[in-house]
Amino acid sequence: MPHSKPKIRKVIFPVGGLGTRFLPATKSMPKEMLPVVDKPLIHYAFEEAQAAGIQQFIFVTGRNKHAIEDHFDHVYELQSHLSTKNKHKELELTSDWLPPPGSVSFIRQQEPMGLGHAVWCARHIIGDEPFAVILADDMVLAKTPCMKQMVKAYSETGGNIVGVIDIPREKTASYGIVDIDKSAKPRDKRLVKAKGLVEKPSPDKAPSTLSIIGRYILQPEVLDYLGRQKPGAGGEIQLTDAIAHMEPVHGYRFEGTRYDCGGLVGFVAANVAYALARGEIRERMVKELEQVFKRSNII
Ligand code: G1P
Repeated sequence: MPHSKPKIRKVIFPVGGLGTRFLPATKSMPKEMLPVVDKPLIHYAFEEAQAAGIQQFIFVTGRNKHAIEDHFDHVYELQSHLSTKNKHKELELTSDWLPPPGSVSFIRQQEPMGLGHAVWCARHIIGDEPFAVILADDMVLAKTPCMKQMVKAYSETGGNIVGVIDIPREKTASYGIVDIDKSAKPRDKRLVKAKGLVEKPSPDKAPSTLSIIGRYILQPEVLDYLGRQKPGAGGEIQLTDAIAHMEPVHGYRFEGTRYDCGGLVGFVAANVAYALARGEIRERMVKELEQVFKRSNII
């Protein structure tokens, strides 16, 4: 029988990044507020955490991120206007999904010292329990939300779990890469055991092509490692480097399609895919896309 593992109750959303790839859109707006169809990226990340049973939402922010705080709060003028006009559906969209008071925290990362540093900034709120990390710019379109899948795998396996996906070898320098322990044979076929992790290795040095996506379930000890972690790839404190000290670490090959919304092409592709996944607009979208492709001499 598997031991019962402490529940994953808290999630960290590192949202301090500058989003320079989306300038000028991100000049005065956080990249996490960019919409995919009609919801900001961070809203999807929040919904995914909620679907996984998580109850405490910790945002590690930076300068210029007020719009995220406002998004997770009431907007009284608009709500009262919608209510006067009997626009119930719109009213629901502004606030029905808000988490209970006290379940959202904002921590400021004063310097952009990397993802690992951002996670470490939340250490006092995490305390001594396992937690999740979700990077909003990695979207996963799936039947069962990705973090929910991972929490289920975690309830059997415990330890540390990172979401993983195979990528072309020429892209290893953009991601954390898993060094796979081929001798281990986890019972869950979606799991692979890691014997190491390397942040952004060049294709010739990468131990595999299995890359980490922005989904993590971590034991609190990783925060101690992060506190001592020296700068790594890009001169930043890397989360991957701290997880590499932990044991056990598993990669989880989630079910679903990942869209890397950290770049323009992945972001636009996500908009198309998420629009097509919406029953009420799917048919009209298909027709529009056909026209767009025809006009661009693609079909
Ligand atoms: C971060 C992590 C990297 C991971 C990636 C997933 O990199 O450091 O290990 O593979 O997210 O999106 P970043 O995209 O912040 O450079």
